[in-house]
Amino acid sequence: MTTYLEAEANPSRNTGAIRLYDDAAFEGMRRACQATARCLDGLVDIVKPGVTTQEIDDFVVEFARQNDTVSATLNYRGYPKSVCTSINHVVCHGIPNDKPLKEGDIVNIDVTLVVDGWHGDSSRMYPVGRIKRAAERLCDVTYRSLMLGIAAVKPGGHIGDIGAAIQEYAESERCSVVRDFCGHGVGKLFHDAPNILHYGRRGEGVEMRPGMIFTIEPMINLGRPHVKILNDGWTAVTRDRSLSAQYEHTLGVTETGCEVFTFSPRGLDTPGLDVSPVAGAAE
Ligand code: MF3
Ligand code: CO
Ligand code: CO
Repeated sequence: MTTYLEAEANPSRNTGAIRLYDDAAFEGMRRACQATARCLDGLVDIVKPGVTTQEIDDFVVEFARQNDTVSATLNYRGYPKSVCTSINHVVCHGIPNDKPLKEGDIVNIDVTLVVDGWHGDSSRMYPVGRIKRAAERLCDVTYRSLMLGIAAVKPGGHIGDIGAAIQEYAESERCSVVRDFCGHGVGKLFHDAPNILHYGRRGEGVEMRPGMIFTIEPMINLGRPHVKILNDGWTAVTRDRSLSAQYEHTLGVTETGCEVFTFSPRGLDTPGLDVSPVAGAAE
């Protein structure tokens, strides 16, 4: 059975209960998520051939400092950096290092900034110079699948509606959905209940209610869905070394649908990619 709770001011752990947030919390989340969105906007001009993922980390650290925020990822469960940078066949949790990006790479940059204790969690794909058609198509399919998932968010609906929308579309495009990672409740805690699976069946799972806040962050592969974790304990890669892409938004469920907190104020949600509007999706 699902338990729903009025959100507490300072939760200390994920108890499995689903928190329902008030207007003040939504306002706090807007501020954190817009800081994250502006940071991701700023990275559009940074990512190019020759730049290292450490330089991306440096940018995020400096952005956070200048905007009176902190990154949630630094030291999170021992994670060593302030951002995740996942290149090509890396599915997620790639750790910044001193290797330069090269023309044709696609890199996911995942930023979580904290403002007044609220977490704004979002990621985008950044093409490095000119990229191949297959890479472009994968990014397009992945963003569209995220938007179709978002379009399925409404009170009275079920979490399974989101996964079903994502899975049906991604698989119809001959891509696969990673099962090992999911979206999550977010707020004063970085990762909270409920889990948001990116596959599933309509009508299954937790019922959505106004006041819920969570991320949707599908990881979509050109090849098979299976992943493995490298020896650093973090970096997840596709087992078949096929390309993988991911976009992530944080949103709140409203009386009529949802409010996406992490949209780019500058319209840069899909940098370097021209994704046509998704039918039925909130924009
Ligand atoms: N930002 C990731 C997410 O979307 C989590 C990164 S945790 C880290 O949930 F430790 F790898 F940074
Ligand atoms: Co997340
Ligand atoms: Co994230």
